[in-house]
Amino acid sequence: MTDLFATPASLRAIPVEALTLEQAQAELEALAKEIAHHDRLYHQQDTPEIPDAAYDALVRRNGAIEARFPELQRADSPSLRVGAAPAAGFRKVRHAVPMLSLGNAFAPEDAAEFVARIRRFLGWGEDTPIAFVAEPKIDGLSCSLRYENGRLVLAATRGDGAEGEDVTANVMTIKDVPKTLPTPYPAVLEVRGEVYMNRDEFLAMNKGYAEKGEDLFANPRNAAAGSLRQKDPKVTASRPLCFFGYALGEVSEPIADTQWGIRERLKAWGFALNRPAEHVDGVDTLLRFYEQIGQRRSSLPFDIDGVVYKVDRLDLQERLGFVSRAPRWAIAHKFPAEQAQTRLKGITIQVGRTGALTPVAELEDITVGGVVVSRATLHNEDEIARKDVRVGDLVVVQRAGDVIPQVVGVVEAQRPEGAEPFVFPDHCPECGSLAVREEGEVVRRCTGGLICPAQAKERLRHFVSRNAFDIEGLGEKIIEEFWNDGLVRSPVDIFTLEPRIERGEFALIGRFGWKEKSVENLFKAINDRRNGIDLHRLIFGLGIRHVGEVTARSLATHYGSLDAWLAGMDAAIGAMPGAAWRELAALKGVGPSTMSALLAWFNDPENAAKVGFYANQPALRLETVIGMLGIREVKANAAKALAAHYETLERWTEAMAAAAAAQPGEAWEALVRVPDVGEVAAEELAGFFLEERNKEIIQGLREAGVTVLDAEKPKAASTPVAGKTVVFTGTLETMTRDAAEARARELGAKVTGSVSKKTDCVVVGADAGSKATKARELGVTVLSEREWLDLIGE
Ligand code: IVH
Repeated sequence: MTDLFATPASLRAIPVEALTLEQAQAELEALAKEIAHHDRLYHQQDTPEIPDAAYDALVRRNGAIEARFPELQRADSPSLRVGAAPAAGFRKVRHAVPMLSLGNAFAPEDAAEFVARIRRFLGWGEDTPIAFVAEPKIDGLSCSLRYENGRLVLAATRGDGAEGEDVTANVMTIKDVPKTLPTPYPAVLEVRGEVYMNRDEFLAMNKGYAEKGEDLFANPRNAAAGSLRQKDPKVTASRPLCFFGYALGEVSEPIADTQWGIRERLKAWGFALNRPAEHVDGVDTLLRFYEQIGQRRSSLPFDIDGVVYKVDRLDLQERLGFVSRAPRWAIAHKFPAEQAQTRLKGITIQVGRTGALTPVAELEDITVGGVVVSRATLHNEDEIARKDVRVGDLVVVQRAGDVIPQVVGVVEAQRPEGAEPFVFPDHCPECGSLAVREEGEVVRRCTGGLICPAQAKERLRHFVSRNAFDIEGLGEKIIEEFWNDGLVRSPVDIFTLEPRIERGEFALIGRFGWKEKSVENLFKAINDRRNGIDLHRLIFGLGIRHVGEVTARSLATHYGSLDAWLAGMDAAIGAMPGAAWRELAALKGVGPSTMSALLAWFNDPENAAKVGFYANQPALRLETVIGMLGIREVKANAAKALAAHYETLERWTEAMAAAAAAQPGEAWEALVRVPDVGEVAAEELAGFFLEERNKEIIQGLREAGVTVLDAEKPKAASTPVAGKTVVFTGTLETMTRDAAEARARELGAKVTGSVSKKTDCVVVGADAGSKATKARELGVTVLSEREWLDLIGE
């Protein structure tokens, strides 16, 4: 991910106080994108990439910059959003009262400031006590339960706070949730609370999956979220979900005067409450509660990541109200991640699906936050070197809610004599192929490709994993067994297993404990997927680098069917730009419009002579020469970037001629423009389809009877520009005019070349001429490029 967000990481080294206005603006933009990306992974896919603490740090940085430059707050600022939009697949429900999030406190001073702010807001002095309810903060999934006349009628997830998903059928299976209420109750009652899993039950569930070799959940939160969003309520019922109530949504009549009173009423209705909770009244007692719970943390049955303080009196809560996405009357005081020290027995190297070598710390067993840990991630070779981790070291291990802990550092004073720095292997430990690190990458990869059994097995595992083909019963151990026996070496083999057995090529019953029933179950699981797999699951299951779940879904929605996707990939490969063009496109400081002007200029033979003139003037610097050529759109910063990159006039002119000769065609640009794709994933996709063997896999799956379901296309009729007549004029900055027109058509707009009374809007770029003037005369809406992008939500 780091490469995607290269700019903010370098800016992030600058203290907030030292940021210039331009830097702050750039960083806020980058942070908005990055946080939205992590929100999506966390809320819609339950597959976060970064620990919560790292996410919190991003949100805090964003908040700190906004506090210093309030005028720079963006419309899409993460501080104005809660969570992420609902995932597809469940009916959407609009919350009667929005579901908000909580602000965070980290240091004791933050908690003190929380109380002081409340005093200031209420205009209360130090001597008036304010009562609070303090309780643990469990990291689960918030849920709103709606009761009408004492019956549970609707359960919804938070979603983006305004709109969530209807998960009623699944919530009905949770034991802790009362389905009817004992009298008396208000006619309408919405109870808000947290769906979560107890640590022991979570670990036992994961152990069961591990034994079957199936995917594990990273932490109880993901497990709770994944279980609640099951299509089949039977699956939810089999998961150990719990619920506690902590607040109210819509209520037809007041049920209490205080937060504590709400707890009492909830208890009487049969809800489990979040415990241990206490009444406290002022900073000292808040902090004492925090300390006490911190000490008892690992003996609680569930993982907690902090405590929550809430103003007790509901009338005060009402007066205090909300700021952006969080109430002023409550705050989450977070705990640091749990840590412990143990000896590092060894470092092993795992080889992933894409050949990435990941170092794993093999530890002497240690209990961290109530969980026995024997392995931890060391991330990558740079991290090992940076922390100077050596075998034999006493290391600090940290668990931040996740099952996979991290090694955060070593205790150098305790280093055993003779411990040597770790030498990262430059060959794959599984297949012996060379392992290389590409420029700018932190990961070293095995170059063995399909000959590397570790990679091939990982790909199979990925293919059958939960978000891909989701074939239960084909776990890691069985894949290992089938692979070693040569029964399944590619995804296609999975679907030909049964016919091959029927033909008597081999038998399963009798080996490794396979019995009639287990074989039958396996075939059933496979056949369930043969008859209609979602296109996005197939795309994701292929395991193409940079094509994760989000990108796979986008591709599926964009192309609609397997045939359309395959045709689109073929067309894109045919329209793929050459290496010289891609090199130029990757240059910072050279945008799309500069590029097209530059290449158009080079395509004109007359201009070659102009360049030739300067070849005989070695005294001039390349930057100066580029400036003197006077190419429209090539401004000073672009000239500088070009000169810095290409260095000599000869190299630059050759590269420009090559780039001009190999420009991308429309099909390539269309692929790059698919949301979440971009140049990097497009290149991986092209690379995948240029490999004949990969195409054969898709063909083979079809021949084995796998049918792929079409994706639902978003109806063009529902876009904001559907049916509108649009004209583009002038030079656009973020895309070519062709690309903009193609996108508008995709969204259901009619694109024409001339402005008339029938035109609905004219999008003007730089140097727009008569068409813009005419539009204004006719009173037709004129949009800038930025406004157009805002309108279509891009
Ligand atoms: S009260 C108006 N109490 O933490 C918001 N939330 O990070 C009322 N959470 O969205 C929330 N334990 O999902 C509250 N004891 C507790 C909680 C709790 C966990 C969750 C909740 C909230 C999130 C904010």
